[in-house]
Amino acid sequence: MKKIGLLTSGGDAPGMNAAIRAITKTAMHFGIQVVGIRDGFEGLMEGRFINMKYTDVDNIIQRGGTILGSARSLEFKDKEKRKQALENVIEAGIEGLIVIGGDGSFRGAHVLAQEVNIPVIGIPGTIDNDLYGTEATIGYDTALNTIVAAVDKIRDTASSHKRIFFVEVMGRDSGFLALNSAIASGAESVLIPETITDIEAIANQIKSQNKGRRSSIIIVAEGDEEGGAMDIMRKIKPHLEDFELRTTILGHIQRGGSPSYFDRALATRSGIKAVELLLAGETEKMVGIKADEMITIDLIDAIEKNATPKVEREELLAKLLTK
Ligand code: F6P
Repeated sequence: MKKIGLLTSGGDAPGMNAAIRAITKTAMHFGIQVVGIRDGFEGLMEGRFINMKYTDVDNIIQRGGTILGSARSLEFKDKEKRKQALENVIEAGIEGLIVIGGDGSFRGAHVLAQEVNIPVIGIPGTIDNDLYGTEATIGYDTALNTIVAAVDKIRDTASSHKRIFFVEVMGRDSGFLALNSAIASGAESVLIPETITDIEAIANQIKSQNKGRRSSIIIVAEGDEEGGAMDIMRKIKPHLEDFELRTTILGHIQRGGSPSYFDRALATRSGIKAVELLLAGETEKMVGIKADEMITIDLIDAIEKNATPKVEREELLAKLLTK
């Protein structure tokens, strides 16, 4: 193998650059040229390729975002567009592909591997942590730290004014960020898509907890079935007439910023592992981490099986909080 393609796809995540760096340096070590593909599958279809040099990846381990750019490329679902991508891959002499992204990105990689017969390896990169088969995805730890730091600040003002805050965090389909940031920030309650939200029960919980307490923080995953933080506040307001309620939507600040130690280390180890897998002749595998060991799982499992947060933790949290 002399040339491998590399792209980042879907929502960016802190640590993607650290993975790009590790892949480029590892490949060079083995005498392989890395072809950086701009803006995910979009760049693959349009042939926007760069031959990566050592200097391209200098000084990027600490930077958030992705130097290659990313996109959610719906056009890749079109077979004709994929044909164009295939022609570009052949013309560039790309013999293997590494895709850093989430399950949508891996779906694209899977189709490509099937149609074009090119080896593909996936590296989980999403702040949502919603990929089956790995304990952590690149960007998740940094996003959690960003949320916890923000909630700590909200707590200061909430306690000063005796207010109840509904803080919306990302997680369109999954509650990993909400659940674990709630635990780490000492939130009073958490609403996630994986459990049924009972507005009245939350209102009663707040009322009973609030005796003598100066603030309450309720973390709301954006994908909760009752809606985001604004919807929840609107629905709960009639039950909490005597309280001052506020909402904060953390939004895309959760996706930016310098990656944490954990994400840099995970991304570096994942990048090295991905190149090694391609060299070993593997295809359609995802790199993951379990008990601090790098592991591989079938890409199809990562795509088709669901990753769910350990909801029993939420029950434990609820018990702790109602004391
Ligand atoms: O990257 C995943 C994610 O962060 C989801 O949690 C969120 O719903 C989505 O991205 C937002 O995506 P966009 O930036 O395309 O609006």
